[in-house]
Amino acid sequence: MNSLASIAQNNKDQKAVSLIAAHSHISGLGLETDSLEPRQSSQGMVGQVKARKAAAVVLEMIKEGRIAGRAALIAGPPSTGKTAIAMGIAQSLGVDVPFTTVAGSEIFSLELSKTEALSQAFRKSIGIRIKEETEIIEGEVVEVQIDRSVTGGHKQGKLTIKTTDMETIYELGTKMIDALSKEKVTAGDVISIDKASGKISKLGRSYTRARDYDAMGADTKFVQCPEGELQKRKEAVHMVSLHEIDVINSRSQGFMALFSGDTGEIRSEVRDQINQKIGEWREEGKAEICPGVLFIDEVHMLDIECFSYINRALEEEMAPIVIMATNRGVSRTRGTNYRSPHGLPIDLLDRVIIISTSAYSADEIKQILSIRAQEEEIEVSADALAILTKIGQETSLRYAANLISVSNLISQKRKSDIVDIADVKRSYSLFLDSDRSVQYLSDNSAQYINDAGVATLGGVERLATLVPASETEAVSETTVAVPNSISTEESMDVSA
Ligand SMILES: Nc1ncnc2c1ncn2[C@@H]1O[C@H](COP(=O)(O)OP(=O)(O)OP(=O)(O)O)[C@@H](O)[C@H]1O
Ligand SMILES: [Mg+2]
Repeated sequence: MNSLASIAQNNKDQKAVSLIAAHSHISGLGLETDSLEPRQSSQGMVGQVKARKAAAVVLEMIKEGRIAGRAALIAGPPSTGKTAIAMGIAQSLGVDVPFTTVAGSEIFSLELSKTEALSQAFRKSIGIRIKEETEIIEGEVVEVQIDRSVTGGHKQGKLTIKTTDMETIYELGTKMIDALSKEKVTAGDVISIDKASGKISKLGRSYTRARDYDAMGADTKFVQCPEGELQKRKEAVHMVSLHEIDVINSRSQGFMALFSGDTGEIRSEVRDQINQKIGEWREEGKAEICPGVLFIDEVHMLDIECFSYINRALEEEMAPIVIMATNRGVSRTRGTNYRSPHGLPIDLLDRVIIISTSAYSADEIKQILSIRAQEEEIEVSADALAILTKIGQETSLRYAANLISVSNLISQKRKSDIVDIADVKRSYSLFLDSDRSVQYLSDNSAQYINDAGVATLGGVERLATLVPASETEAVSETTVAVPNSISTEESMDVSA
């Protein structure tokens, strides 16, 4: 059980790490505390009010912790905040509710079969709260007395330990003596001994001994001498995922496999046994199931076999709440010849509730961009923000957001700390958005290697594999023009 506790701790540590990433400005769904109505702009979230309201309802359902095996699909055009909303949900959940994110394509790996990868993802998203009652002896050490026999083999000893109300002497065996000397326990330490395992932990030094030594480390922690009985019952609660229990039980080196991630396939007998065991623990009141969230982004990348697995897994007793996201319209379901809405088979669609996102207004784009600029600690002038907003409307929110950091580098080159129109224009002309890239490709398609492996270079059609390196350099350099709508200052509307 100790290994479970350390996994739980490790999980908490991992959540503390953060970087400036695509969604790092998002710290929640931005809801009113009581009514759960989404605020227009809060916690890094802007607009998309209907979808956020729906997400808030799903969030409540997850927090209740009693409903399992439901699925929601967030559907909408690219860069309308689908992943952002899922991240907002993740941020709003306590550290104790498991939230697993996988991308549809991650399921396909050479090491694990698709269904095994999905199984693991599902079981990572189911938390088990395990309650343990342990008996401990907790008190301040009055004296440790160890007698070593002359031959060195046999050790004997006594430990005198007290609380504010009582004092007791315990006879010590060899194992306890070793544990005490390993922890360097001396008189004045407040310690706790787990009666079942004999594990000793130092809680600190007693305040009454604070003036005993003048050479004490700065990190010495002082605690009160415990009160009451020496022997106490303590309840410890660990939160681990079902997957972690699987891994620990699946191999002899199972515990290490958790950290290397190299878990391999877990046999279904192992899982069955664990499910059964957890059922027993639940009946005895030792464990509680806490359904977490499995977020499958880009869910259209899954194929029909995966979808049928999900259908089935949602109906199992221990199931998480599954949130999926897709930007596909009516498209072919992988592994079949038929087309269906969002690329999902109809029988799965029938089981999900659909949250739809829609394109942003200019104002919302502007707010999101300015939040992004703040997150990246970049100062953007009002004019530059207006032009970025316009770019965001005409191309995509993502492209405009990407231009912020690029423009910042350009403005630094001219030794300015503030991004101005010129910097944005320069980065706009240096980096193509998808529309201009498509336009450029169709204008110059002949120069690119096509599906037949043929390219036209220097006016001569050649097989790509036979083109000598020197001739490829002869391709003329192309300059990219800035479209009229945002090229000249006069035509630009920066008043907004
Ligand atoms: N409502 C919003 N408030 C704040 N930031 C947002 C909002 N919507 C999107 N963003 C930000 O815009 C960027 C693109 O959004 P996101 O990645 O969520 O789009 P998506 O809908 O998942 O797109 P795709 O279908 O391409 O995966 C992200 O950096 C995201 O954090
Ligand atoms: Mg996304």
